[in-house]
Amino acid sequence: MNFLKKERTKDANYISAKESRAISKENKKITDEIEKKRKRKHIPEEEYVTKMKNPDNVVEFDNVHTYFFTDIGTVKSVDGVSFEVPQGKTVGIVGESGCGKSVTSLSLMQLVQRPQGQTVEGEIRFNMGDHAVNVVNAPMDMMQKLRGNQMSMIFQEPMTSLNPVFRIGMQVDEVIALHNPQMSKEEVKKRTIEMLQMVGIANSEGVYKMYPHELSGGMRQRICIAMGLACSPKLIIADEPTTALDVTIQAQILDLLRGLKNKINSSIMLITHDLGVIAEMADYVVVMYAGRVVEKGTVQEIFKSPKHPYTVGLMASKPVVGKDIDRLYSIPGKVPNPVNMPDYCYFRDRCEMCVEACKGKYPEQTVLSPTHVVNCYRYSESSGSNGNDKKEMKEVQ
Ligand SMILES: Nc1ncnc2c1ncn2[C@@H]1O[C@H](COP(=O)(O)OP(=O)(O)O)[C@@H](O)[C@H]1O
Ligand code: SF4
Ligand SMILES: [Mg+2]
Repeated sequence: MNFLKKERTKDANYISAKESRAISKENKKITDEIEKKRKRKHIPEEEYVTKMKNPDNVVEFDNVHTYFFTDIGTVKSVDGVSFEVPQGKTVGIVGESGCGKSVTSLSLMQLVQRPQGQTVEGEIRFNMGDHAVNVVNAPMDMMQKLRGNQMSMIFQEPMTSLNPVFRIGMQVDEVIALHNPQMSKEEVKKRTIEMLQMVGIANSEGVYKMYPHELSGGMRQRICIAMGLACSPKLIIADEPTTALDVTIQAQILDLLRGLKNKINSSIMLITHDLGVIAEMADYVVVMYAGRVVEKGTVQEIFKSPKHPYTVGLMASKPVVGKDIDRLYSIPGKVPNPVNMPDYCYFRDRCEMCVEACKGKYPEQTVLSPTHVVNCYRYSESSGSNGNDKKEMKEVQ
């Protein structure tokens, strides 16, 4: 028994019930305080009205931290993320499962699971024309105005967004009526049918009367897109929109999204772990690892000259048509425990291209071009990495 206890305390992932209770108490104190601030009746405008850094962007993430205060410790799901989505462009967010892609987009919609989940630091500025709204501090009524009208989200599994017991028509009608209270019932139905046609549903009158289970996955995703785009939002957030679909249907849905984006002149934040989808759709790419952005650039920069060893690994693990190989490359090791992140580069334990400087703190950002930045010692001036290292890197690419 004693032996067992001794062994268990050695395990970094083990915490006792007493420790867990103490953490839980501490968490409650923190989240109660944040919630109290959020639930104030009148939040003064100066707390959330701000200005865009660049008015050509639809949204700017600026050093965003979203944490989950759990009984086993604080999960730093999004830990200082900064990037922007320019108007009319598609920005792809890519990274392994669990790296914080969904939590980043949920932070923008203020849909993170509260009270455990909280955006504790940073700004997310959304462009409203003459001013910007910092979503992080925006009150609920402001968020309700933004969601659907200004920004809209399309999820991975359409069945979870649709209610199985209501007919399609009724569900789309509800969205349109909610955002257009001045419309009569007939006008709402007419608009719903138009929307169904717009997303490529041929028998729109028939589908209007159907239940979700009567439709295929691809059709259901089209319905979700129709609902998402009903109010011509400025920003479409698509979180793995094609992951649950067959490859052929995937291509159709991506085509549809691209076409609609141009038609309503909006921007897309496209979240995916699929580099093929990124290559086809995105103008800019943001690579995330363990809650942080490790590299970002234009799609050409990221695909033609990936710099961060993680991005290089992702590229190497993607199948290429016509290339004959026995086994696809897989990045060795696993993502560090999100509760106890190290204070050095999060990728170091899996990195095959370390240099002397990697023993130091988490690397700062290095600017490679006006659009291309990377957080890796190989590219920082003070890294002490030499020419040989760089040569080795080229060979890996
Ligand atoms: N409700 C939650 N409670 C605790 N941890 C969460 C919660 N939601 C997400 N996380 C954690 O946040 C991290 C990022 O998750 P997520 O953004 O969903 O990843 P992905 O990149 O696959 O979309 C993961 O480590 C996940 O376990
Ligand atoms: S900083 Fe060092 S350990 Fe981290 S990714 Fe770059 S080379 Fe690898
Ligand atoms: Mg996700």
